[in-house]
Amino acid sequence: MGDIQQLINRFDLQKHPEGGYFKETYRSKGEIPDSVLGDDFEGSRNYCTGIYFLLTSDTFSAFHRIQQDEMWHFYQGSPITIHIIHPNGDYSKHILGLNFEKGEVPQFTVLKKCWFAAEVNVPNSYTFVGCTVSPGFDFKDFELANRNSLIQQFPRHKELIARLTRI
Ligand code: GUN
Repeated sequence: MGDIQQLINRFDLQKHPEGGYFKETYRSKGEIPDSVLGDDFEGSRNYCTGIYFLLTSDTFSAFHRIQQDEMWHFYQGSPITIHIIHPNGDYSKHILGLNFEKGEVPQFTVLKKCWFAAEVNVPNSYTFVGCTVSPGFDFKDFELANRNSLIQQFPRHKELIARLTRI
């Protein structure tokens, strides 16, 4: 677990409300005005932002959603499973990693408004990835799922939602 503390220190990672640790690495100076963004956003947003994201195997990234597509990039560590519940209730999962023979991919984009959660595939390890969004990230667009209301909305995914939510 020394590797984990080293990554946290080296990149000044902070705790993320969804679980794991993050650090914003890029925020474009340019802004997209409210008038162009449409009803999904309140106020202006930067063109684009990027973060480092570190998840450890002893926890999970809880179901949450944002208002823009989010591109994940694999950097280091164990493969990570991204669980997605689409707005129509369909479920899909995708493994980010470097074992392409096994179907892992180094890059995956979660589409806007999907509920998504993630967990590291190997015990006693971690995954270090990047996440890029455009329009740029704002916590106003970030919603952590409430377990009971998400189960009410998608009862067929009850077990998965119960396991990967905290509130
Ligand atoms: N900045 C702070 N939190 C996040 C996040 O969850 N995703 C992205 N892309 N940027 C962030």
